Amino acid sequence: MLENPQRYTVTAALIYANGPIHIGHLAGCYLPADIYVRYLRSTGKDVAFISGTDEHGVPITIKAKKEGITPQQVVDKYYGQIKQAFSDFGISFDIYSRTSNPVHRETSQDFFTNLYEKGDFDEEVTEQYFDETAGQFLADRYIVGTCPVCGNPNAYGDQCERCGTALSPTELIDPHSTLSGAKPVMRSTKNWFLPLDRMQPKIQQYVDSHPEWKTNVLGQCRSWLQEGLKPRAMTRDLDWGIPVPLPDADGKVLYVWFDAPIGYISMTKEWAAEQGRDWELYWRDDKTKLVHFIGKDNIVFHCIIFPAMLMAEGSFITADNVPANEFMNLEGDKISTSRNWAVWLHEYLEEMPGKQDVLRYVLAANAPETKDSEFTWKDFQTRNNAELVGIFGNFVNRAVVLTQKFCDNRVPVRGDLTDYDRQVLDELALFPDRIAQSIETYRFREALAHLIDLARLGNKYLAETEPWKAVKTDQVRTNTILNIALQVSANLAIVCEPFLPFTAQKLCDQLRITDRLDWQNAGRADLLVAGHELGESALLFAKIEDDEINTQIQKLLNAKRMNELETKTVPPLRDEITYDDFAKMDMRIGTITEAERVPKSDKLLKLRVDDGLGGRQILSGIAKHFAPEELIGKQVTFLANLAPRKMMGHESQGMILMAEDRNGKLALLQPGDGVWNGGTVS
Ligand code: 2FM
Ligand code: ZN
Repeated sequence: MLENPQRYTVTAALIYANGPIHIGHLAGCYLPADIYVRYLRSTGKDVAFISGTDEHGVPITIKAKKEGITPQQVVDKYYGQIKQAFSDFGISFDIYSRTSNPVHRETSQDFFTNLYEKGDFDEEVTEQYFDETAGQFLADRYIVGTCPVCGNPNAYGDQCERCGTALSPTELIDPHSTLSGAKPVMRSTKNWFLPLDRMQPKIQQYVDSHPEWKTNVLGQCRSWLQEGLKPRAMTRDLDWGIPVPLPDADGKVLYVWFDAPIGYISMTKEWAAEQGRDWELYWRDDKTKLVHFIGKDNIVFHCIIFPAMLMAEGSFITADNVPANEFMNLEGDKISTSRNWAVWLHEYLEEMPGKQDVLRYVLAANAPETKDSEFTWKDFQTRNNAELVGIFGNFVNRAVVLTQKFCDNRVPVRGDLTDYDRQVLDELALFPDRIAQSIETYRFREALAHLIDLARLGNKYLAETEPWKAVKTDQVRTNTILNIALQVSANLAIVCEPFLPFTAQKLCDQLRITDRLDWQNAGRADLLVAGHELGESALLFAKIEDDEINTQIQKLLNAKRMNELETKTVPPLRDEITYDDFAKMDMRIGTITEAERVPKSDKLLKLRVDDGLGGRQILSGIAKHFAPEELIGKQVTFLANLAPRKMMGHESQGMILMAEDRNGKLALLQPGDGVWNGGTVS
């Protein structure tokens, strides 16, 4: 672990540009990274905060196929959307770039060439599945077949999503290509492998030299190392990606997990060039601390494979820490893009304008730091109303409004201090270090809890000293109390900035703090000098009403419903029948002329149907789907020669035909215009 570094390179995972950002991404990676970086900047450190989109790899081509557009169109669409959403949410990247940029292509090709020329790769010919119809090798995700473990007929070549087993394509029973449906054949192909097996001792040493890493991170690393590392191909037979820079590598691209992490370097180069800085200081100076923020699914790539690449190359620093988080669930279920079970950042920003900090607060308070955590809208509402409004906002608002009222909106002079005043100021002085300590050890939930405790301290101070009572008899005492309350408020503005940057700004405006106050100033009781005029007061946070939350919950329920419908399985076909069997059925068109409920039944409706033959009575179990009056006058299809039968004491002479609509509601099968009652269906 690097002691007291002054320069930091902080990276946040380069997310695939194949979909929008949701709260799981924020809580797992981007928000903790932003809190960390904002804190570092406040302490005066030199920081490069680097991120962008990962625009290569099979996830992009799969999305393109699904949306019927080109991979380029996919990445162009999502890069812009993702970048904007992060920016609106206050994630303060120094650069948010993309791996499709020329500087990245060049950097990753040079990196590859360098390793190639040093002889670091093993060249190997292996047998891979090839789709002869589509004319291409198949990435694992492009092969489906039956899972050998659970029998799922739609298991992927890398994993069965039903039972979770990790698979290789050759394990699938009856594999076929998702590109053409064809049965793939084995064809040999040459690729370049990083010999992780031979590098294991060095990687082991690297991991062992970081006992301070988070338990979840070390756990995954140790389990990989224990199983024994295997050589891993750094090139792929694909048509989307960065071409392998070798003469005999037509149709081959760099493995996406080879090029993506190099993106951190190429994006640092881009940023440094824009800023007129030297990028090498951020990647080649061993006094620079490199920290990767990621989600747990990226651990092996950042803790084993990328460090192995960097060690092989030899001129770069490796990560000092990789504080990966676990996953955040939503309302009791795993967040899922394909099932639309998510709170999407761009939608949140639109539907709850000005509430970035509420989401930042709730996500940080529930961050999945040591185990999976849970986001619920009720908790969101409670935390906002009880903690942000009730504690933080309430305290600051009282301090500012009382100063307006009793002290002419100017910071009053502090008089003699009581023991209690001194105790509060002593406590105040301890908070910045306490919060800093938690942030520096990547315990952001704890840091946030300390922050709220500071607001609590202020609230308690006002509740106990009661300046609104003191003012009636003792202006000097009132002045002292409000001076202290304002000093606590100014301290809050400093220490809340990493977590709640929009609030920090509002608070500075209200206190009319114009110079940037950094962390070094925090803890002091003289941040605001006597006589300083405050700005206008305004509520920092607004109460969130049930309506707002219910709208969001309803949105999720709708998503669930749509999803259930989409995944509804089509029932298997019934046994074959002959034409004669079919011809026995006399299906006809008629108009419903009367409809009423059958007493004591919540399912049955008694219908009178004009069948062109004088009419007939049909009972139908559709009372839950239709009000009787909405059926009158509707033309329907019915089975006319079904033997009459009695239901709840009423005779039914036929059966109305129905289909289920998208919402699970029954729909009438109605003919088009011009069909007469009694007309037959054939
Ligand atoms: O999981 C993902 O979305 C990957 N694209 C993350 C890559 S992080 C880094 F290596 F670039
Ligand atoms: Zn399975």
